[in-house]
Amino acid sequence: MNFIEQLVSQALADFLNAADAAALENAKARYLGKVGQITELMKGLGKLAPDERKTQGAVINAAKTRIEKELNARRDALADAQMQERLNAEAIDVSLPGRGRGMGGMHPIMRSWERVEEIFRSIGFDVADGPEIETDWTNFTALNSPENHPARSMQDTFYIDGNDTEGKPLLLRTHTSPMQVRYARMHTPPIKVIAPGRTYRVDSDATHSPMFHQIEGLWIAENISFADLKGVYLNFVKAFFETDDLQVRFRPSYFPFTEPSAEIDIAFGSGPLKGRWLEVSGSGQVHPTVVRNMGLDPEKFIGFAFGSGLERLTMLRYGINDLRLFYEGDLRFLKQFN
Ligand code: FA5
Ligand code: MG
Repeated sequence: MNFIEQLVSQALADFLNAADAAALENAKARYLGKVGQITELMKGLGKLAPDERKTQGAVINAAKTRIEKELNARRDALADAQMQERLNAEAIDVSLPGRGRGMGGMHPIMRSWERVEEIFRSIGFDVADGPEIETDWTNFTALNSPENHPARSMQDTFYIDGNDTEGKPLLLRTHTSPMQVRYARMHTPPIKVIAPGRTYRVDSDATHSPMFHQIEGLWIAENISFADLKGVYLNFVKAFFETDDLQVRFRPSYFPFTEPSAEIDIAFGSGPLKGRWLEVSGSGQVHPTVVRNMGLDPEKFIGFAFGSGLERLTMLRYGINDLRLFYEGDLRFLKQFN
């Protein structure tokens, strides 16, 4: 084998041994690079006599062509191998079930919320929304709970950095009752509204959450009595629980903003909770002081209000015994309602 043939077979062997593109380009440089062996041979041609230059030139050129051809073949082979490796690594198992488009569902609390709205709308109640950050006046004072009144401690509160226009700290509303005064001051009687929404208290156990939902109800006109409250609420719970087989009981209670005040209890005539009295709401005849704070004459206007716990209603409707389940976001729980 002459020197050039040896050079060619050495080059081909080097190319074959190159395990990746970088190694291959290094090998190429040794033969075809600026100071590569083939390049050097070409440079040497100038020193030869004309005929020798011609024959030797042809031989070197053939060697160069051969090397380039093998180089390109090896480049392709390495690129193919790399592609194959990627395809293997990224292979998708087409037999796996697809991700599909996850169907969202409604949270059970939202289901109840919409249901309550629908029922009250059907008997002529407006639905109003109010702020979750409240002033001391709307959350307490306007509702006949003056500062330092012991009734305020019934609702332990989260305060917000920042004061209202009276310099009192803002707070997260502890109930939806501030909406009674807010709504009444913006409307003229007869006032007939529910105000569902989020409320907050420093509370946490199986039946109390720091954030929970209430539905406020308010009906003020010239002749709205406790009997109307009873009729409206009985109608509501029958529609909500989809049964006529239940009773409603008004149990004397105390709220600063109603007089008289009552807790509303219900008892189912059948089912797992049959015969047990369960509290679902606070209620009462709106206190004259509150009617005045609504901008109305308490000698002329009278009515009722109630504030029901939406979690409570939802737990009774679905037989849920721990309200923390509502807020854990566990799909195994949530999927059962959709
Ligand atoms: C009130 O909040 C009154 N504003 C209700 C009212 C309105 C009375 C209008 C009269 C006229 P109370 O603190 O009892 O009352 O709360 C009402 C309902 O909210 C309770 O029956 C309960 O179902 C629910 N509730 C209260 N605290 C929590 C809590 N931490 N987590 C979940 N539900 C709660
Ligand atoms: Mg209560």
